[in-house]
Formats: sequence, C-alpha cells, structure tokens
Amino acid sequence: MNEVVSAPQPMGQTGLRDAVVGDTRLSSINGEKGELIYRGIDIHDLARSSTFEEVAYLLWFDALPSKANLDAFRADLNKRRALPQKLVDVLRDIPRDGTPMDALRTAVSALGLFDTNVNDMSRDAQVEKALTLTALFPSILAAYYRISQGLDPIASDPSADTAANFLYMFTGTMPDANAARVLDVSLILHADHGMNASTFAAIVTASTLSDMYSAVTSAIGTLKGPLHGGANEGVIHNLLEIGEMANVDSWVNRKLAAHEKIMGFGHAVYKAYDPRATELKRIAKETGAAAGTTTWVDMTERMEQAVWNAKQLYPNVDLYSASVYYTLGIPTAYFTPVFAISRVAGWSAHIMEQYADNKLLRPRANYVGARGMTYVPLAERRENVKL
Ligand code: COA
Repeated sequence: MNEVVSAPQPMGQTGLRDAVVGDTRLSSINGEKGELIYRGIDIHDLARSSTFEEVAYLLWFDALPSKANLDAFRADLNKRRALPQKLVDVLRDIPRDGTPMDALRTAVSALGLFDTNVNDMSRDAQVEKALTLTALFPSILAAYYRISQGLDPIASDPSADTAANFLYMFTGTMPDANAARVLDVSLILHADHGMNASTFAAIVTASTLSDMYSAVTSAIGTLKGPLHGGANEGVIHNLLEIGEMANVDSWVNRKLAAHEKIMGFGHAVYKAYDPRATELKRIAKETGAAAGTTTWVDMTERMEQAVWNAKQLYPNVDLYSASVYYTLGIPTAYFTPVFAISRVAGWSAHIMEQYADNKLLRPRANYVGARGMTYVPLAERRENVKL
C-alpha cells in the first residue's frame, strides 16, 4: 500500500523574530518603549558617563569596575595591542581589493592559529582571549589601512584607550579629546544589543564548543552584511548620492516608491525610537558643529523627517553614526569595522555566557519540499533544465 503523504504546509520565512534562544544577563531591548540596558544600566546613562573600557568590563564581569579595577583593565588591554609579526605578514599578503571587514575576519581566524592555547576552555583562558581580541581589533584595522596606503603600521600609545588609540594608529596623529570622546561614546552604544544576528552567529559557533576565535570569525562575517552592521556604510553612500539638502525629499520618495529599503531605518525589534540613535544624533550634531560643518547631519535629519512622513519608520543606530564617522574623517569602508571594534566586547561576553551554560543550538526548518520521490538510475534521467 502506498504511504499517504500530506502536502507540505509553507509558513514562509520567520526570520526567527519571536524565537527566544535562551537566557542572557547581558543586555535587553524593550522594543516598544525604545529602551536598552546593559546589565540593568540604561544606555543613556552609560553613553553620557562611562567609557568603552568600563562597558566591556561591565559586560564580562557583571559589575562596574572600581578605579583600581579599571586602571588594571585598561593597562591589560594596552599591553596586548601589539600585533604578532606573523599577523602583520598575513595583512600584507592578502588582496588589497577586499574590504577591511574581510581583512578583519581573516586576521581573527589567523589569530586562532597563532594562539597555542586556543582550545583551553577555562574561564581564565576565555577572558584572556576576550582581552586579546578586544585589544587587537583596532590594531588590525589600523595596520590593514596603513598597509593598503603603502605605509607601515604604527604601534599603539600605552597612555591612550581604545577609541583614541584606533584613531592614532590609523592616522598617525593623536586625536583631540573631543574626537576621541565622540568615538568612545559610539563604541559604548554599539557594544551589545541582545540577540542580534552577529551575536547569534557567535553563540551558534560557541555552542558546538568550538573556540572563541572561530565564534568571533562567524560574527564578523555576519556583521558585515548590509542588513546588519553594513548599513552605516550604505547611509553615507546615500547621503553622497543625494548630494544636497534640496534633493533629500525627492530621493527618499523615489526610493520608497520603488520599494527599496533605505539604510539606517527600521529595526527587527524596535517599534519606537532607537535610544542609540538619540545619542548618536546628539553627538553627530556636536561633532558637526565642532568641525564647522553640519551639512551631513542636517541632511540626515531631513532624511529622517522624510522617511517618517512617508512611511513612519524610525531611524536605527546606523543612521547618525554614518555622519559622525564621516566627520571624524574615517573612510567609509571602515564604518562597519568601527562597529566591530566595539561589538567584539559584546560577542565575547555572549560567547562566555554560552560556554558557562552550554546547550548545542540546533533549530529545525519547516520542510516544504517533495516527498516520496523515486530514485531514477543515472542512465534513465532526462537532462536537468535548471542547470
Ligand atoms: N526602508 C524602507 N522600508 C523599510 C525599511 C527601510 N529601511 N525597513 C523596513 N521597511 C518596510 C518594509 O519594506 C516593510 O514594508 P511593507 O510592510 O510595506 O512590506 C515594513 O517596513 C516592515 O519591514 P520588515 O522588513 O518586515 O522589517 P524587519 O523588522 O523584518 O526588518 C530590517 C528589519 C533592519 C532588516 C529592515 O528594517 C532593514 O532592512 N533596514 C535597512 C537596513 C538597516 O538599516 N539595517 C540596520 C539595522 S540596525
């Protein structure tokens, strides 16, 4: 008797929107209210009063550091910023026509090979790796940039923190306190964000008990996409294409009429104003004013208004970070890497949280393909027109 096969029931792509992957104590988003907390502390308070180093410490050790803790933590990070010569050789050897995100992904993967302690899964070894990765992201990106410009990488300045050191190693000039603080605030705002796509990629890899370098490599590849971290580069391309204020409304309306997504708007979780966008809008205005040109932030604000009028979409974190980075003189291809410099703190925290209470992440898919098909011997098959 033939088996009765029920027809597949398509449910469409869910994007896992309402799926809960597990517990976390790291960060939480209230999408309806537009709120974000790291370890219970409101993002607005952190953005106004803390530093990236304090936030990384908070995420990894579940408490704000004392002055002595923070000094030791900053010193530890700074001690680890020098790139192994073999990694500099890798950066020199890889093609120049890839993106800096590709270079970062390759460098982190290579770092795993250079770490003789790569498979030590103890908590101490995890923290060591998190410190090394977080310390080295700015060094890797600055070195890759300088090599691509025909320049030699330069060593970090042990008196400067992550934000200032990145700008210093990138340009060769120590930034003024304002520029360093602007980047520092941006790093605070990007450090963690619940179960976003790249964090999910990281913990899926970690859940197989693979090493931290592999998990962070997965995350970098995921952050790169234009629907995730890559959106900030899309924003500046759009602003440059628009060219001037008078063109903003017509450009926005044209894109929306063509059903094109506009980078820097919409969010999978926020159904209110993204609190990070509030802070970035503020610093974008301050940065523009300090640099003597508010053209980009003014155009961005106009874009925000036009998108709201036409489609009631809120801006996300990427909208205003674009004009901040552009005004700081960071090349567009390094906007998403700057996001990664910060997010590696969050990825590491989630990876450590996953290792501490691990269960292999292994979802299922709704199979909507054929069933009960006959295996046809090769000689009897017709040409497959799909190929
Ligand atoms: N520009 C234009 N329309 C947008 C939009 C955008 N940036 N984001 C969402 N929409 C529209 C969708 O087209 C859809 O419209 P419809 O109902 O008329 O079809 C509606 O808003 C819902 O969008 P949907 O794609 O279901 O939202 P989502 O929650 O699944 O997607 C993003 C979230 C982030 C993927 C999406 O907003 C996006 O692609 N944004 C641009 C990329 C970006 O800035 N990413 C950074 C995120 S921090």
